[in-house]
This record gives sequence, C-alpha cells and structure tokens, in this order.
Amino acid sequence: MSQRIIYCDHNSTTRTDPRVAEVMHQAAVEIFGNPSSGHRLGQQARALLDKSRSQIAAYIGAKPSEIILTGTGSESDNLAIFGSLNAPDAAGCHLLTVATEHHAITHSADWAQRHGFEVTILPVDSRGRIDPDDFARALKPTTRLASVMLANNEVGTIHPIAQLATIAHERGVLFHTDAVQAMGKIPVDVNDLKVDLLSLAAHKFYGPKGVGILYVRSGTRLASIIHGGGQETGRRPGTENIPGVVGTAEAMRIIADDPQEAARVGAMAKDLRYRLAHQLDGIEFFGDPENCLPNTVGVGFGGVDGESLAIALDLKCICVSTGSACMTGAAKPSHVLQAMGVSERFLRGSIRFSFGRENVPADAAAIADTVIAEVQRLRKMSPVKV
Ligand SMILES: Cc1ncc(COP(=O)(O)O)c(C=O)c1O
Repeated sequence: MSQRIIYCDHNSTTRTDPRVAEVMHQAAVEIFGNPSSGHRLGQQARALLDKSRSQIAAYIGAKPSEIILTGTGSESDNLAIFGSLNAPDAAGCHLLTVATEHHAITHSADWAQRHGFEVTILPVDSRGRIDPDDFARALKPTTRLASVMLANNEVGTIHPIAQLATIAHERGVLFHTDAVQAMGKIPVDVNDLKVDLLSLAAHKFYGPKGVGILYVRSGTRLASIIHGGGQETGRRPGTENIPGVVGTAEAMRIIADDPQEAARVGAMAKDLRYRLAHQLDGIEFFGDPENCLPNTVGVGFGGVDGESLAIALDLKCICVSTGSACMTGAAKPSHVLQAMGVSERFLRGSIRFSFGRENVPADAAAIADTVIAEVQRLRKMSPVKV
C-alpha cells in the first residue's frame, strides 16, 4: 500500500471539494450557453450566473451588483489597485500599502511608482503588524487608495481591517483588503470589515482554480484594466466562467454549513506548535500569536536550510512550503520575513505549515516527529551552529 501523503500546504492551494467538482461538471456539460446570448440556452446560463453571483454576494454580506468575477486572486488585487489609480481624476495620486502584502500588491505598487504614482510602503513590527497610528500619519490629501491584507499568507498575521478602513474613510480614502487567505479560516464580511474593495480566490477555499472575486462597494469608482465587451458591467470583460462561478458559490456554501471546521483545523496547528516548541531547541515561531490565522504555523529552524528541510519532508510524504508558493523555486528570501526583521539564520530555515480539510488530528504528531528527526539529521550535517 502506498504511503499516505500528508498535505500541510493549504495556504498554497486546496483540493477542489468533490461536491464543488460535481456541480461544476454538471454546469459545464449541461449549461454551456453564453450568458450574453439572447436565445434560451444563453438565458439559461445567465440565470445560473445570476443565481451563483447572488449566493457568493450573500456569503460575504454584499449585494450581487457589487461582485466582479475575475480569473485569479492576483487579478482581483491588480484590478483593485489599477482600477482605482486609473480613474480619470487620479493621475499621479498616492497609494498606501504594507511591506508584507502578497506580490500581487507589492509588484503592482512597484509598477505604479515607476509610472508616476506616489507610493508609501508601511513597515511592520516583528510580529508582522502595522501600527494604526503610522497608517493614519501616512495618509495624504492625495491618497487615492490604501490596501492592507486581511491575513498574511506566510505567517498568518491578521490586520485590524475595520479600524484601518475607518481611519481611511475619515480622510476620504478608498480602502482595499486582500482577503485571499482569510476566506474559510476567519469570518469575511464586507460590512463588518467596512471595506470598499475586497479580493478573494476560490482555489484557496476548496473551490476551483481560475476564479477570483473582487467585491466593489456600490458607488466606488473603478476603471477597467481589461478592454472588451460589457460583461461584469464593463469592468471585467470576457465570457464568464459559469462552471467556476457555480463551483465558487458551492465552496462558500460548504464553508457556511460547517462553522466548526476552523476550530478543528486550529487544534491541529496548535498541537504542532506545542510539540515543536517543547521538543526542539533553536526555533522561532513567526507571526502574531494573538491575531493569527488558526491554520498557519510559520517557523524558522536555526542551523537548517529551509529548502533542504522541505525536500526531506517531501521525501517522507509531507508537503509543506518554504514561504509563499510563488516564492518556491525562486530561492529568494521571503520579503515578508525580511520586513519583520527575522534574523538570517531563521530566515534561511523557514517553513510554513498550513493545515486544512486534508488533515486528520494524528497529522500534527506525525509532522512534528518527522520534522524533529529531519532537523536533527540536517543539523548534524550542517556547519552552521544552532
Ligand atoms: C494573500 C494572497 N493574495 C493573493 C494571492 C494570489 O492569488 P492567486 O494565486 O489566485 O492569483 C495569494 C496566493 O497565494 C495570496 O496568498
């Protein structure tokens, strides 16, 4: 019998839930019309699209007209940034964001800076937190948009979004949050969060790959970054991905129907944390223990190369990440850990464990035992002191 794979990389992506795949398959083969077509098959697709959009909206406290369907979380982030900066009266305006954002935001901010916009990147403390007073001080009369992620993908730190959005609104500034890592792990409600724009990606919460969502509060001015037909009220042209949207609505329904899941997953992450903390010296946990995604455990192992440890774990059928998935293979130190001031030895030996539906409670002990054995083996071979 082949060894069971322990998948502990749910922040990179998740398996499409079989219930999601089933409704997607049905939609793909049965409802194949183009929602823009006037005939009955087109209108059948339109009806399904409208129903799914309404369901998606309801799960995050939005109106159906406030949901723009995109292709990825990155696209949603790009649309939030460039759609705000490209508004007719926004030339040369100011963008405020944070050093630990996903590259979909930081690289967009770099691009904006190279093309005449003023950009401020707020620093974080050692737990990955920003100071709301720093945030308030960094807003300018010319600030068009502030973008702060709800939860960090590498270390799990959760930002006080409602508080920051309130500060931004008092100064007449639009507020965007990247909630790609938050959905399914902590509550995501656009009214509680008080945001104008919010990004999601279905593949992070057991939905299909290739579906992103951008919530845009009614009345928010947003220019299109793709030019074409009138789909998504002209703000994101292109024939709609009906199976993907149906699957996304189903993925959200499954989350809403199982409010205990976050606690189940959180208990496993806590167990791993406890075991590593009590059985291994020379390690550092990253992030904010008081405000952290329940499933995420970011750890630095002193005296070990993170890539070597991840490979060693993979050989033992344990799948983890050395940072965000997008960084894997690039062999660059994580910009998130660097921004948090993590020391070189823990930066080099960093691993992210992210639990989810693939896991059972015994996984925490199995992962801990294997990690401890592999770290001890690698340390013996390493010239670097713990
Ligand atoms: C916080 C965050 N934002 C955006 C993205 C990009 O999402 P996608 O890969 O769907 O483009 C990711 C993916 O890891 C993420 O973690």
